[in-house]
Amino acid sequence: MAKTGPGGSTTTPARWKPAGAGIAFGGDYNPEQWPEPVWEEDVRLMREAGVNLVSLGIFAWARLEPEPGRLDLAWLDRVLDLLAGAGVSAALATPTAAPPPWLVRAHPEILPVTVDGVTLWHGSRRHYCPHVPAYREAGLRIVRVIAERYAHHPAVGLWHVDNELGSFPYTDCYCPASAAAFRAWLQARHGDLRRLGDAWGTSVWSQGYTDWAEIEPPRRTPAAANPGQRLDWQRFWSDTWRDWFVAQVRILRSVAPDLPATTNFIGIHPPIDYWRLAAEEDIVSEDSYPDPADPRWMVETAMRGDLMRSLGGGKPWIVMESSLGLVNWRDRNVARRPGAFRLGSLQAVARGADAVMAFQWRQAQVGAERFLTGMVGHAGARGRVWEEVTALGRDLGRIGEIAGSRLRAEVAIVLDWESRWALEADGMLSHDLRQDERTADWYGALYRRGVTADFAHPEADLSGYRLVLAPELHLVSDAAAANLRGWVERGGTLVLGFFSGIVDPETRVRLGGYPAPFRELLGLTVEEHLPLAVGDANRVAFAGGPTVPCDLWTEVVRAEGAEVVATFTDDLLAGMPAVTRHPWGRGAAVYVATRLDPAGYDAVMAQAIAVAAIPAGPVPPAGLEVTVRTDGTRSWRFALNFGTEPVDLPVAVGVELLTGARVGGSLRIAPGDAAIVRTPG
Ligand code: GLA
Repeated sequence: MAKTGPGGSTTTPARWKPAGAGIAFGGDYNPEQWPEPVWEEDVRLMREAGVNLVSLGIFAWARLEPEPGRLDLAWLDRVLDLLAGAGVSAALATPTAAPPPWLVRAHPEILPVTVDGVTLWHGSRRHYCPHVPAYREAGLRIVRVIAERYAHHPAVGLWHVDNELGSFPYTDCYCPASAAAFRAWLQARHGDLRRLGDAWGTSVWSQGYTDWAEIEPPRRTPAAANPGQRLDWQRFWSDTWRDWFVAQVRILRSVAPDLPATTNFIGIHPPIDYWRLAAEEDIVSEDSYPDPADPRWMVETAMRGDLMRSLGGGKPWIVMESSLGLVNWRDRNVARRPGAFRLGSLQAVARGADAVMAFQWRQAQVGAERFLTGMVGHAGARGRVWEEVTALGRDLGRIGEIAGSRLRAEVAIVLDWESRWALEADGMLSHDLRQDERTADWYGALYRRGVTADFAHPEADLSGYRLVLAPELHLVSDAAAANLRGWVERGGTLVLGFFSGIVDPETRVRLGGYPAPFRELLGLTVEEHLPLAVGDANRVAFAGGPTVPCDLWTEVVRAEGAEVVATFTDDLLAGMPAVTRHPWGRGAAVYVATRLDPAGYDAVMAQAIAVAAIPAGPVPPAGLEVTVRTDGTRSWRFALNFGTEPVDLPVAVGVELLTGARVGGSLRIAPGDAAIVRTPG
């Protein structure tokens, strides 16, 4: 079996896609929604579209087990046989995301309960609490049935466990079983009530516990909740979803050790520490639904792609679902523009994906999702979307040689879910401290500069990177702080964002001057935190550089050895440090004490890239995205034109895979189009 984990993975079990398929292509397939004659047409059309991988059976539990213990698997046998006959592989699901109504009737206690005590009923999906024994037993039983029946079916290439674990709006459950499991989890973490009391700070507001039974989940409270209790609850639920994955995977692996397992992620999803969940997966996969109304959607998908690759330790990953056009869960659902699905799919490959799947194969006629665009639409296999789908199928067929190759990054962005939970908690100094937004600020500057970045946990081995960005690492463990300091000492360049290094893993403030674990490294002390009101702003003047607006957050920084790179210009802070740099060992540490506008982050990044001696090429024209995959002997340079103007790109002599043309000198890329140039080396 493959060894997995962030940075630790070397191999993936082989059967995750059809042999020789190169970059896999497909979508969610829900044959249980259609009569049998449609299935034959489905597989014929799949072949026509170049589809060779479908996810299957994700929400089919009631069809597979229509009554308690009575199984009806013959239909799935036939579907899988048809797929095998057509050379289409299946990411076969465990159907635990949608328990059948009979299970709810027999055991209503499986239904999740919100923080306000409201029961979430069936009639939709995800109506289960993974802590309730009746649900777990029934769920693991159907997982075993599927594993034993299909592990050796030739169509089955990988396991798709549950669906979007912990996805909104239901991320945690407050039922009695959850409360009991929380108490057990706390006992395992803290050992005794005295230690729990120290960690949570129960001396505040008369919260001293004398019996584990007194401890509740962080229910609705009359005033601000205990931050330690809240943070442990988030850890507990993150562990809950991971453990539910692991419980299923144990069964799947016991039957089929060579069949890889995944569960579909959702970007920088708040409720689950994906570093820990990814460590249990054989291959990382994610669902990608960028907002077409956001003109910068491609920056977000680029960032998510880089995160997925990093979660899998650099291995190829899977786009398990992506939007073809319309979804139905935003207030107003703007369709993706023509060509965006194709270009977004090639972008995922450019960032390390070896499979691209859409939601969904055939647009539903019934149910909650009938207006979401399908690869095969309500009108059948024709029209603009079908043309785009089949064109992408042909494109992916031409670039199969890229499969298995990787990207190299010399920059890493630190991302830690625990820190995020601490930063975004109630009772903080600003409700607008959002980890994903700050991460996107930093990422955007790298993106505009054309620099590829990995993501890394703050305790990970950073020795492969020259530049590490840590946007708002609010909570930091001793190990993480030592890791970052040691890495700078050995020559790294670290850029640290404001309000970092403030609390320890129990969310206790680190004393001795902010940011205590990084003061020496940064050569400064932060004397005061001064969040700004909505609409309020200051400005930052870079020495010999631009003056740019800043907002959201400012700090009183006293330089104690650090060089002042930029100062605030206005109000109380006029003339005080806003950006500093401090040599440390063989490296340097940069501190940014406010939220800059994009030009400000560009200025910080330009300097950091120079200090870290990152070999960055010229700044790419706006809209052009360039990345490189390599297998050690060949490189593939992806150039994606998300802009509205044609771009002339200087290219080395090589072969452009999408057209098969020999190229060299300059290559014109039309708006919305892409080029992939193979060169030796
Ligand atoms: C999620 C789910 C899918 C489907 C899509 C629709 O990603 O995993 O089952 O509901 O959303 O956008």
